[in-house]
Amino acid sequence: MSTSSSPDIKLSPKPLFSAEEIAARVEALATQIDRDYQGREIMMVAVLKGSFLFIADLVRAVKTPSIVDFVRLASYGSATQSSGIIEVRKDLEMSIKGKDVLVVEDIVDSGLTLESLRSMLLNRQPASLRICTLIDKQAHRVTSVPVDYIGFSMDDGFIVGYGLDLDERYRNLPDIRVVEGA
Ligand code: IMP
Ligand code: MG
Repeated sequence: MSTSSSPDIKLSPKPLFSAEEIAARVEALATQIDRDYQGREIMMVAVLKGSFLFIADLVRAVKTPSIVDFVRLASYGSATQSSGIIEVRKDLEMSIKGKDVLVVEDIVDSGLTLESLRSMLLNRQPASLRICTLIDKQAHRVTSVPVDYIGFSMDDGFIVGYGLDLDERYRNLPDIRVVEGA
């Protein structure tokens, strides 16, 4: 049985970031976050779906007491490029008023998704708001949205795996690979 209905899509034979490298970066980020949030409770806001594996690993790596909520955003555009028009498909279930919010994202690319999420969350008056992303992709950044914690930086290229998809596929890869010719 074929595992993909898109036989023309090729992934890099070697991972861009291996499962071991990802695990080590998650531990390092957790150490940094624990240092910054001493004595507080973190409200992690994970952006679905791309960050589902990252939040699962990160929330288990931090020692600071944490609660988790999810938001689902959809950005209109092509499979590989965001349009900047963001729709909230699933809002948070908890109030963030007075909470120390840490947004957990998979990738910041243009920054448009994060910028609109950030202003939406700031309107709800959290005590603080910081942003953690697994991947910071700088080549197409069109906003100056501040990112406080970064797993990996990269320039260009479309990547999949460890939660990241191309048309919903490849989220279950344990490492991150480049889509060749994207
Ligand atoms: P932005 O609004 O352009 O910053 O787009 C950010 C969102 O687009 C991310 O949260 C991802 O869901 C998605 N995205 C951007 N680049 C990639 C990629 O290389 N692989 C998979 N998803 C991506
Ligand atoms: Mg996505």
